[in-house]
Amino acid sequence: MECKDNRRIIIAVDGFSSCGKSTFAKAIAAELGYIFIDTGAMYRAVTLYALDHGAISSGMVDEDAVVRLLGDITIDFRFNPSRGASDIYVNGDLVEGRIRTIEVSNCVSAVSSIREVREKLVAMQQAMGRKRGVVMDGRDIGTVVFPDAELKIFMTADAGVRAVRRYEELRAKGDEVSLEEIKQNVVSRDKADMSRAISPLRQAADAIVLDNSYMTVDEQMEWFRERFREVASSK
Ligand code: DC
Repeated sequence: MECKDNRRIIIAVDGFSSCGKSTFAKAIAAELGYIFIDTGAMYRAVTLYALDHGAISSGMVDEDAVVRLLGDITIDFRFNPSRGASDIYVNGDLVEGRIRTIEVSNCVSAVSSIREVREKLVAMQQAMGRKRGVVMDGRDIGTVVFPDAELKIFMTADAGVRAVRRYEELRAKGDEVSLEEIKQNVVSRDKADMSRAISPLRQAADAIVLDNSYMTVDEQMEWFRERFREVASSK
């Protein structure tokens, strides 16, 4: 599918945690031949680095220590053909398999509320999207990173449904987590993401809401194609 004038656009996918933003954004990008960027993975990668380098202990984030580490962190995505998706690397080390643990999830909201962390990652995200033809998922893409994105989607789903999805994903990977623990993490991250002072999670005025609580991925793609056609025909 292409816009009338073949112009590649920026698609922002924002929304609550664990509502399938990455799965959806990845599928869209594959269909359009666009680049997919999971900005949550970038905040998780910084959090993991902070955990590994002593800036977080017993769940307490030392903000000054995280800021001091920032200059040492380079992040890049490299396409992994066997997954059909990009893996995230920090300073050349593959960290894709370590960024979605409950330990990282429990600290990532605090790390992502640090101004310097956001400034660094937002600048990187804007640079990645400069060539357009990008689907970027996160919390502030349509509001802060690309306020002029041509198509903005705000995803939401029932909190109980989201917790079960994240629980099943982690259990399938062999993580010993309880559903209650996941539910608490999902609810507390939503609260932290919405109430932080800098770039809080909120729906952009021109975003279209997608509530996928009871939708299959195929149904979501059908929904997307209609929205994309509308945007493409108006360009
Ligand atoms: O999408 P995710 O659950 O992997 O994101 C992890 C955390 O990163 C999330 O709790 C909030 C933060 N985040 C953010 O603040 N801004 C973004 N653009 C993406 C994620």
